[in-house]
Amino acid sequence: MPPGKVFIAGSGPGSFELITKRAIELIEQVDVILFDELIGAELRNIIEKSGKEVVDVGKRAGKHKKKQDETNRLLIEYAKKGKNVLRIKGGDPFIFGRGGEEAEVLAEAGIKFEIVPGVTSAIAAPAYAGIPVTHRGYDPAVVFLTGKEAPGRDRTNWEALAKLNATIVILMGVANLRRNAERLMKHGKSPDTPVAIIEKGCTKEQRVVTGRLRNIADIVEKEGVKAPAVIVIGNVVNLREKLLPFLDF
Ligand SMILES: C[S@@+](CC[C@H](N)C(=O)[O-])C[C@H]1O[C@@H](n2cnc3c(N)ncnc32)[C@H](O)[C@@H]1O
Repeated sequence: MPPGKVFIAGSGPGSFELITKRAIELIEQVDVILFDELIGAELRNIIEKSGKEVVDVGKRAGKHKKKQDETNRLLIEYAKKGKNVLRIKGGDPFIFGRGGEEAEVLAEAGIKFEIVPGVTSAIAAPAYAGIPVTHRGYDPAVVFLTGKEAPGRDRTNWEALAKLNATIVILMGVANLRRNAERLMKHGKSPDTPVAIIEKGCTKEQRVVTGRLRNIADIVEKEGVKAPAVIVIGNVVNLREKLLPFLDF
């Protein structure tokens, strides 16, 4: 039996309207669906009622590495049985989504795959908060950064980042916000740089907290901001004030 094909798809930032038509079509077309956290309640419901074989890979194993190994193994196992598989995950699969790792594993196993990009929270959550991550009147670049590099193994060049004229968008960054804000200031980023944090962006529970680099960690602590949240550091955050009164989703 020829192997099946794997579709590595993004589901957008959690609101049903932002899922691509292609991802929805694939629910009908595949045999097996592997999903994890952050795909949004409505989509999860549709998947669970689809009548397809469904695996919640977010629940299968506790430890992250183990979870990923298990997911990789399942993708290969199902495809080798001739099944077409939809592997669906939050946002875009290639933005801190391990989609690249899964594609690598499939390529090594000789299994065909397709990438179905999704709307990433890194751009959509700021947009829903009235913050364009680029704007010609502000910085000429945008950097997407993980806030989760382990202490002692941090490969981020904070000095270069602090000096770069760029909007900095940090994912998975709530827990290390204080440390990372301090690093940016230590390397010369202005303590007055505006910062916004968008919690559960693009969903009905979206909440936005703003401040400056110098006080944002205290504000976030006081307000009890929790993951999932996107952090935007840069002057584009100032646009929110002007856009917000007319922003109508
Ligand atoms: C493992 S990363 C996955 C990112 C995803 N692939 C994407 O493109 O949006 C998880 C992080 O994405 C961010 N995130 C995902 N969905 C979000 C949402 N609806 N609102 C705010 N942040 C979100 C948070 O920073 C969260 O910790």
